[in-house]
Amino acid sequence: LVTAVIVVAAGSGQRLGYGMPKAAVPLGGEPILMHALRGIVASGVASQVCVALPPGDEGLRRLCDDFREELADGGPLLTVVDGGSTRAESVRAGIAALMEGIEAVLVHDAARALTPESVFHRVCDSLVAGAAAVIPVVPVVDTVKMVAATTGGDAAVAPELVTGTARREELRAVQTPQGFTLGTLLRAHEAAQALDQQQAAAVTDDAMLVEMLGTAVHAVRGSTQSLKITTPLDLIFAEGLLEGPLG
Ligand code: CTP
Ligand code: MG
Repeated sequence: LVTAVIVVAAGSGQRLGYGMPKAAVPLGGEPILMHALRGIVASGVASQVCVALPPGDEGLRRLCDDFREELADGGPLLTVVDGGSTRAESVRAGIAALMEGIEAVLVHDAARALTPESVFHRVCDSLVAGAAAVIPVVPVVDTVKMVAATTGGDAAVAPELVTGTARREELRAVQTPQGFTLGTLLRAHEAAQALDQQQAAAVTDDAMLVEMLGTAVHAVRGSTQSLKITTPLDLIFAEGLLEGPLG
């Protein structure tokens, strides 16, 4: 399948708190985005890599231009677009810039900069085997409960009350790259534009939009190395991973 990878890198990185877009934050002396791009290209799955950047960020744009120079002949086409104000809008900006002939699209968070090549391969293999949508997942290590804000007298005891416990064996934490046939991703994001603001805000990944279409989403094994660098603690983990891979 002729495959594109849309790299969403347009976020501001509020929770990381570096006062710069997360994609530009140094990890092992290089911007997070650089690690993400290297990993994607090394996997060899992409005919096109389309990066959604924070609008107006000249530094990251230059980084992409320099990386394009580094790419060998026969390497992927690297394109850059302005991202949007939400992750989904950044994905849509990427979709709009896909080249002719793309059959499958992987949507990948720049923040999952250390994703192993094997994860890209498992996602692509599943698409080749006939999946319309596939996500990498890992088991959940914590017990996960539902809660609601406490009301009345209980509010003095604690701010929240447990309303249920999920069966952990059935839970998975979801990562990227998420893979889709082009038609599936187009339909999913077209449907997303009909959602109201509150519904749209509850959409945290692309697979969720595919689920809303009633299309089957398949799950393959992800990797703990694909952690999303979100908080300062995650950056410490990522620096540790650069020292040497997990066993
Ligand atoms: N993203 C994007 N466009 C947005 C928001 C997010 O391309 N408008 C991307 C981020 O760059 C990141 C991925 O989506 O690679 C996952 O988002 P998240 O981890 O939330 O990153 P940020 O939004 O940058 O972080 P924060 O929410 O802490 O501000
Ligand atoms: Mg965010």
